[in-house]
Amino acid sequence: MRVLLLGANGQLGSDIVRLWHDPAITLIAATRQDADVTDEALIRDLVERARPDVTINTTAFHNLPQCEENPELAFRVNAAGGWNVASAAASVGSALVQISTDYVFDGEERTPYLEYDARRAVNIYGAAKIATEDAVRIANSKTLVARVSGLYGLAGSAGKGGNFVETMLRLAREGNPIRVVADQVTAPTSTAEIAEALLPLVKDGVTGTVHLAAAEGCSWHTFAAAIFEICGLKPDLQAVSTAEFGAPLARPMYSVLGTSRAPALRHWRAGLERYLREKGHAPA
Ligand SMILES: NC(=O)c1ccc[n+]([C@@H]2O[C@H](COP(=O)([O-])OP(=O)(O)OC[C@H]3O[C@@H](n4cnc5c(N)ncnc54)[C@H](OP(=O)(O)O)[C@@H]3O)[C@@H](O)[C@H]2O)c1
Repeated sequence: MRVLLLGANGQLGSDIVRLWHDPAITLIAATRQDADVTDEALIRDLVERARPDVTINTTAFHNLPQCEENPELAFRVNAAGGWNVASAAASVGSALVQISTDYVFDGEERTPYLEYDARRAVNIYGAAKIATEDAVRIANSKTLVARVSGLYGLAGSAGKGGNFVETMLRLAREGNPIRVVADQVTAPTSTAEIAEALLPLVKDGVTGTVHLAAAEGCSWHTFAAAIFEICGLKPDLQAVSTAEFGAPLARPMYSVLGTSRAPALRHWRAGLERYLREKGHAPA
């Protein structure tokens, strides 16, 4: 099976490259340098040369403040880019896997969102990803939308300037009080765990929508406390509310993803321990 991977140097993309060692799969890894997803002709050319059976789109414009400032770009990279990838894939008979987000939900629930719960975004990024989900499904009938949440991976996100775990460890090193929101609950998920969970779905040709997120949710404050505990650090960690934190941007207050379609991933703490070991922050 030939698999074309877009976004191969991102957090999730690079973990797919690192962890997919399956003799049944020939992985063709592509980055922005190979083709920008907003360039329809370049994407079509890339796909025609790769001749994939499956195309995976992990690319995104997901810097939330920048999406609010530039909605046109948010929709161009995510939705129009997704459309370009999905339709180019369809033209060579390739299935599509589109990575999406918990931010398609409004966060009003207090139990995990399942795959076919109603979507309603509360910010531009979420709205652009809803549009992406719809566009790729229209463009390619063999589409799997895989929603993930709170990603952190060894590569760090270039578009977001790192990841939450590394930010917490840097703040701890700097020695100042660390204020983290305790009223936003999600399921922070290691990209290594997602890469491994995605492989059998791709091999089985699963279509539709699936949630791939760590089991159980926690607040960002609880997650930060676990990072420090596992690393044996004792910084001055303070719990604050979203209102106290003063973040101008609307985010879902609860965005834990449950699944009725795929095997559940491990607990978020197991993924975190693995990441901290692999990154060399915690003993093996
Ligand atoms: N990070 C999260 O917390 C989170 C949460 C929920 C869902 N997601 C979704 O999960 C997926 C993977 O996220 P991630 O954290 O792995 O992202 P990431 O590390 O930021 O990687 C995104 C990749 O997309 C590439 N890219 C951006 N714009 C592009 C363009 N116009 N053309 C071609 N490539 C482009 C980037 O290339 P460069 O390196 O050249 O910029 C990068 O390799 C995304 O679909 C995202 O929406 C992420």
